[in-house]
Amino acid sequence: MLKILVIGSINMDYVCTVDELPKKGETLLSNGFVDSGGGKGANQAVAARRLGAEVAMIGAVGKDVSGDKLIDSLRKEGINVDYIKRVDIPTGNAIVTVDKNGDNTIVVYSGANFQVDEELINSYEAVIEDNDFIILQLEIPMNTVLYSAKLAKKHGKKVVLNPAPAKELPKEIYEYIDYITPNETELARITGIDDIKLASKELVNRGAKNVVVTLGEKGSYYLGDGELEVESFKIEAVDTTAAGDSFNGALAVALGEGKSIEEALKYANAVGALTTTKIGAQVSLPYKEEVKEFLK
Ligand code: RIB
Repeated sequence: MLKILVIGSINMDYVCTVDELPKKGETLLSNGFVDSGGGKGANQAVAARRLGAEVAMIGAVGKDVSGDKLIDSLRKEGINVDYIKRVDIPTGNAIVTVDKNGDNTIVVYSGANFQVDEELINSYEAVIEDNDFIILQLEIPMNTVLYSAKLAKKHGKKVVLNPAPAKELPKEIYEYIDYITPNETELARITGIDDIKLASKELVNRGAKNVVVTLGEKGSYYLGDGELEVESFKIEAVDTTAAGDSFNGALAVALGEGKSIEEALKYANAVGALTTTKIGAQVSLPYKEEVKEFLK
């Protein structure tokens, strides 16, 4: 079975639904509330697991109730949680607002996630060696992301970097990454270029082997071994939270199972679209069978 290791964040999401996103200085009454497992890392792990991969996660949570709940729920998903450390800092959380169009704002308190350090990664070198794909995001310290990518490449693993939330990337990281997967905003932020094709070319010039840009309702764009534009699926979105995360989990699963890049993008677009049909992060991630049915 395909083995995927996610090294990244684990958050408790507090989601309020509102008609309009709040403006500066405004107090709003929410018309609904959900708390849900979140964090880009954990979301990507759950997405990959529900799509059929064997998944393990390296991360950190606090010694608190949220930490207990999140570990428990990842374990129930069938994810190997043995490499998640408990620290004396509160579990990461995210305050999410979602409006009536499904658009959101997310503020993250990193907390325990910033305790995922090089030492922890080093202690799990054998775990990295034992997996096929390593998925990384930017909600843990940048030096840990760089170190993990380097270690993964040393062992010849496929490395997916979802550069979210967008931050300046160290120049040397590109040589360790097989797939870099920004959305439109992240791509512009990382490169300083607004045009999607030119910005993707810039990432290739920096050393990225394959660039996959998620474009929401416009689908996705690929530059690497050729160039591709793959359309999205038209679907009524109620909450876009974790759509990018499920896309990343799905991309790794599809590529790991031997699909072509075009088929993998179509599959990941479908998984991303399905994720927007429910409120919340992990609660909205689709299972393999649902995706199969949807693609019919
Ligand atoms: O990508 C969505 C995720 O971003 C949320 O689950 C939240 O926790 C933040 O990490």
